[in-house]
Amino acid sequence: MAVTAAEPSQGPATPRHVAIIMDGNGRWAKNRGWPRLVGHRRGAERVKQIVRAAPDLGIGWLTVYAFSTENWKRSTEEVLGLMKIFRRYILREADGLSAEGVRMRFIGGRERLDPKLQALMAGIEARTAGNTRLNLTVAINYGGRDEILRASTRLAEKIAAGQIENPTEADFNDCLDTVGLPDPDLVIRTSGETRTSNFLPWQSAYAEYEFTPTLWPDFSPEHLAEILDRFGLRDRRFGGA
Ligand code: IPE
Ligand code: IPE
Ligand code: MG
Repeated sequence: MAVTAAEPSQGPATPRHVAIIMDGNGRWAKNRGWPRLVGHRRGAERVKQIVRAAPDLGIGWLTVYAFSTENWKRSTEEVLGLMKIFRRYILREADGLSAEGVRMRFIGGRERLDPKLQALMAGIEARTAGNTRLNLTVAINYGGRDEILRASTRLAEKIAAGQIENPTEADFNDCLDTVGLPDPDLVIRTSGETRTSNFLPWQSAYAEYEFTPTLWPDFSPEHLAEILDRFGLRDRRFGGA
């Protein structure tokens, strides 16, 4: 642990909230001469494994980036294939997640999603709302700028309605999709890309970042444990001396 007698570390040794940019499914498949969707299916299997491992690694909040507001630029085949994977994930995992004490939520704009998928999302959110062992949040059609724009509109409505006079950061947090979630302590991106691609820009203002070359379909609980060990050595100062 990075705790010295003179300067105790302010951050927890284990991150409470880990957020993951799950990248590299396409390259993983391409490396094997397989269609991109095979990589996405393998990626979904990895999500299951990481979700199962997270509570034992001390993680209480796990947020995963599954589909960005920019990912609509991909081929119709890939987009529809991804939507099918999300639908199946919810259908097949619902019982297991409920039994394992996982509370599932979604962030991102929902209107553009298929109404049947929207209904499944709302259903599992309601069904798992009382669970507390792990808070799993899946970002679908999520973009930080889109979220901030929608939150600004909500805030403006509250101001216009006389509910808020001088908005604070807490008031703004209440308007974000992530309302009720703590800020991420650690953001991990797989596949070697060192950018954030519109993921949680407001919430990650003080997050630590880890970029690993491992492609998402190869990312195992052991990789995660290794990253968490490194996180424990970091000195988080939050602007303090
Ligand atoms: C991440 O893998 C999953 C999504 C963005 C939906 P990619 O599909 O971006 O994989 P690469 O970056 O092409 O390898
Ligand atoms: C970010 O990955 C979005 C998700 C992981 C869902 P991308 O592969 O879409 O990001 P860019 O295009 O490389 O920035
Ligand atoms: Mg990518």
